[in-house]
Amino acid sequence: MFSTVKGLVESNNFTSLPPIYVFPKKPEDSMLSTAETVPIIDFSLLTSANDPDQRCKAIQDLGNACRDWGFFVLINHGVPEELRDEILRASCSFFELAEEEKREFAGNQVLDPIRCGSSFNVKVDKSFYWRDYLKLHVHPSFNAPNKPPGFSEVLQEYSEKTREVADELMKGVSKSLGLEADYILKRMNVESGSQLLVINLYPPCPQPEIAMGLPPHTDHGLLTLLIQNELCGLQVQHHGKWIPVNPHPNSFLVNLGDHMEILTNGEYKSVVHRAMVNKKATRISIGTAHGPSFETTVSPAPELVSESHPPAFRGIKYSEYLELQQKYQLETKSCLDRVR
Ligand code: SIN
Ligand code: FE2
Repeated sequence: MFSTVKGLVESNNFTSLPPIYVFPKKPEDSMLSTAETVPIIDFSLLTSANDPDQRCKAIQDLGNACRDWGFFVLINHGVPEELRDEILRASCSFFELAEEEKREFAGNQVLDPIRCGSSFNVKVDKSFYWRDYLKLHVHPSFNAPNKPPGFSEVLQEYSEKTREVADELMKGVSKSLGLEADYILKRMNVESGSQLLVINLYPPCPQPEIAMGLPPHTDHGLLTLLIQNELCGLQVQHHGKWIPVNPHPNSFLVNLGDHMEILTNGEYKSVVHRAMVNKKATRISIGTAHGPSFETTVSPAPELVSESHPPAFRGIKYSEYLELQQKYQLETKSCLDRVR
């Protein structure tokens, strides 16, 4: 059955949360900390050709952010603000389509190139999440819904621009590990690699304190670039505490994925994060997840393995990892423990 949270909210006048959406929380779930702020990386310094000292420092800062947090805010990235506004607007228009129109794009397999729906897997989830989504495979082949008019074009332009940023970041990450700039790009076959674009829509929730937009999880792939409208909701886990992320205007929220942790032999972390919901208005976020090609087997880079750092993970094909994640997503935050 196809249904969305948005459709549900619009056809009911809820004052309390429907029980299936109540998310069972543990005491540690409320360990919030606002004392620490997430690292900020300036993309223009990372790529600046005329100031090698500043570039070196930016690469070092990037390495520290990847090691300590697995997460950072990226500023001065060069993707035009108008494009960001346009994709946020166009995404809202997509979710404004009638339920029957969105149903056309439902899909049902993890590797389906277009999937629109709600929760993770409505067939097996015990509690649902207060979130609708549209997931698209946008590289190596580009897939997008053919409506509303103009949506596909904006998605394609945004996908290309974010891929350029992700490639540069991967070069910076390689250098921060003392490797050649194109080490990760080559080893992970990023040129023919997968890029997944996910649009998350979190409608206003009658009881946000007992609901969950997205439960704690890590992302698969190498890294994810996220933008959102003016509403906050993302929290990242750091030293056992949840840190709410309040982005700078026109920044990307960047998190490393499981395959970066495998490739770096655990030196860089795939950060656990979650999305909270709110009562006020609809939050929308758009993530692009950049990964290896589905056929690539990812294992720790030999350069990062030594007698004192034996391989922390076994090699696994990216597509097999995705199947594993699909199978165990309800039991674990991350599948990394299954490939140790
Ligand atoms: C995600 O983790 O994929 C999305 C997080 C968010 O909506 O902030
Ligand atoms: Fe995520």
